[in-house]
Amino acid sequence: MENGELKNKKLFDIIKPLIYKTDPESAHNMVDLIFRTAKRCPLFFNPLIKKNFIDDPMLTQKIWNLEFKNPVGVAAGFDKNATMVYGWPALGFGWGEIGAVTPKPQPGNPKPRAWRHIEHQAVQNAYGFNNDGVQVIKSRLKKTYPFILPIGANIGKNKTTPEENAIEDYKTLVKELNAVVDFFVVNISSPNTPGLRDLLNAEFISNLFKKLKSETHKPILIKFSPDMEDEMIINLANLSVLNGADGIIVTNTTVNYDLIQTPIKKGGISGKPLAKRSYEVLRLVANEVFGKVPIISVGGIDSAEEAYKRIKAGASLLQIYTAIIYKGPGIVKEINEGLIKLLKEDGYSHISEAVGVDIPKKLILKENNAS
Ligand code: FNR
Repeated sequence: MENGELKNKKLFDIIKPLIYKTDPESAHNMVDLIFRTAKRCPLFFNPLIKKNFIDDPMLTQKIWNLEFKNPVGVAAGFDKNATMVYGWPALGFGWGEIGAVTPKPQPGNPKPRAWRHIEHQAVQNAYGFNNDGVQVIKSRLKKTYPFILPIGANIGKNKTTPEENAIEDYKTLVKELNAVVDFFVVNISSPNTPGLRDLLNAEFISNLFKKLKSETHKPILIKFSPDMEDEMIINLANLSVLNGADGIIVTNTTVNYDLIQTPIKKGGISGKPLAKRSYEVLRLVANEVFGKVPIISVGGIDSAEEAYKRIKAGASLLQIYTAIIYKGPGIVKEINEGLIKLLKEDGYSHISEAVGVDIPKKLILKENNAS
C-alpha cells in the first residue's frame, strides 16, 4: 500500500466512529448530497478519478459488447435514483447499477429501515424500493447517458402491483429506460417487497423474458436470492438461460437471521456474513451455466482475495456495497490493484484467463483435453 492510500485508510478509520453515530440512511443521504452538489464539476471529480480509477488492460473486458474498464461495479441500492452516476468513476468503480427503479414513485417502508451490525461488518435493510419512479429517473439519466462506464438499471415492481400484473411493470420499465441504460437487471430477489420472491417460478420466468425481449435488444440479466434451496437455484439458472437471460447476478441480501447475533427480524442482510452463501450460490450457478452467459458475483466481497476467489469460481464481474461502509471508498481501488497483483502472481496476463478456473467441470474438461 502506498503512503497516500495508507493516509486515506487512516482518515477513514478516524471518521468511521462519527459516521457510525449517524443512522445509516442519513449517512447515505449525506454522501448522495455531496455527489449531487458536485454533479458534473470536473474540479471535484477529476482528481478523484485520477486517484481511484484503475484503467489497466489486464482488467478491461468486453462483455455484451460493452467495455468494462475494471470488474468492480456499484451494487444495486447504492444509487437508487441515479443521482450519483458521475461519482462512480471517482470512487473507482468500472460500472454500476442504478435502482431499484419502479414504474411509479414510492416511499418504501417506514423508517428506520437500515441498520448496521458493526461487529459482523454487516448491514440490514428493509427499504422496500423507495425511489423517485421511472419518469424522474429517466429524465436524470437522459442528461448522463451515454456515460463513460456501463450503466445497468435494476428494475422492480411497485408494491401495489399485484403479482399477476408484475410482468407489465417490468415491461414498462424496460420500455421507458431502453434509451438511457446499457442493460437491465430484473430484480425478483429483494426480500422487502411482499410476494416478490414468489415470482421465481418457471412460468413467470418464461413469460417475463418473452415479453421483455420484445421491448429491447439490450442485455437482460436476472438477480437471484441466496435463500432458495440449491435445487431451485440450479433449476432457475438453467431456466433463465434457456429463456434468454443474458447474465445472472448472485446474490441479493439474505433473510437468514441466524447469521447475526442480534438481528432485526425484517429486511435483508448484506456484507461479510453473506459471503459464504453468496460464494456457494455462485458455484452452483457457474456449474450450470458457465460459458453460456456471464455471471456476476455480489455479496460480502470486501478484499482483493475474496474478489479473486469469485472470479476463479466463474464470475466475470463483481459488485460491492457493504464493504464501502466498513472499509471506506478506497476499497474499490484496493480490490482492483490487488486483483492485478494476484493475477500476475498466478501467471495470468488478463483477467479473462482466470475467470472460472476453479470450476470442477472446467478443470475436468481441461484435464481431458491435455491427455
Ligand atoms: C441493497 N441491495 C439491493 N439489491 C437490488 O437488487 N435492488 C435494490 O434496490 C437493493 N437495495 C439495497 C439497499 C441496501 C441498503 C443494501 C445494503 C443492499 C442488495 C445489493 O445490491 C447486494 O446484492 C447486497 O447488498 C450484497 O452485496 P454486499 O452489500 O454484501 O456487497
